[in-house]
Amino acid sequence: MIVYSVVSTKGGVGKTTLNANLGALLADLGMRVLLIDADVQPSLSRYFPIGRTAPHGLTQMIKQGALTDDCISTIDLALAPIVPRGQPRLNPNGCLDLVVSDAPEGTLQDWLAPRMDSALRIKLALRSPLLAENYDVALIDTQGAVGHLQDAAVLAADVLLSPVSPDVLSAREFLDGTQKLLDRVETASAFGFSVPPMHAMIYRQENTRDAREIAKAIREEYRKLKCRVSVLDTVVPHAVAYKNAATAQLPVHWMDAGRAYDTMHALLWELIPSLGGHYAGGTSSDTQIEVADDV
Ligand SMILES: Nc1ncnc2c1ncn2[C@@H]1O[C@H](COP(=O)(O)OP(=O)(O)OP(=O)(O)O)[C@@H](O)[C@H]1O
Ligand SMILES: [Mg+2]
Repeated sequence: MIVYSVVSTKGGVGKTTLNANLGALLADLGMRVLLIDADVQPSLSRYFPIGRTAPHGLTQMIKQGALTDDCISTIDLALAPIVPRGQPRLNPNGCLDLVVSDAPEGTLQDWLAPRMDSALRIKLALRSPLLAENYDVALIDTQGAVGHLQDAAVLAADVLLSPVSPDVLSAREFLDGTQKLLDRVETASAFGFSVPPMHAMIYRQENTRDAREIAKAIREEYRKLKCRVSVLDTVVPHAVAYKNAATAQLPVHWMDAGRAYDTMHALLWELIPSLGGHYAGGTSSDTQIEVADDV
């Protein structure tokens, strides 16, 4: 069981898109995946069609400090409004469930603010046996801002993922914002809670010389800093397929069986080497695969 949080102090960088598509690809590889929408603007909750809507979601999970069945909705991709011809079916061994974001803006942050344990509320909830017994991977989506909910998502993760656009302003914001975000939760390490390692990824890279130069500069900056962030080799390009897939409420690897399919696999294999060589759609061996803690 492994928990990823997709974080960035900057909004609109692609966190939700990444979360949804990684989750769907993992499920299509036979993994049991729980998406957790910890963004008070509930984009991930609306990304894929919902099959069964649970009576509760994020608010109850955080307030009761436990993940229970009544917080888990199910995703049903067969209900997508735009069904491409020959639509594939999700790998029957996998599952894609969702804890919806159901708190009106500000209310959860307000509830968390005066609490001593605010930064640990998601971690606490994810200790529930229900998670370990029923899921292989949890993916937490966050808001592109600074706050208690974001801190809680950072400390709940085994690994942090952070998309960064290779344009000057985003890169600066990323370097500065990420450093501050990690510094803020660093105190927790003095109390035995480790700050998870972060993988940054060059995301939505335009096919221009300028974008490639900035991507190179970001990599060099991180090498120089030798800080807690490593930049993944896989680059997710700017491509209309990601927007089209969001409109169709389908995973991008279904919508674009060419480049996006390859990119998402390469990204996943780099993140989880034990999945290397396995393809959605069963083009690899049908052997059982497990998410090892080899990240
Ligand atoms: N690889 C891509 N190429 C082109 N467009 C993309 C790509 N990935 C995401 N997008 C588009 O970029 C926009 C922002 O993406 P997304 O909503 O995932 O960002 P976010 O970081 O979750 O934003 P927020 O901070 O508001 O939650 C969306 O319109 C999405 O469709
Ligand atoms: Mg988002």
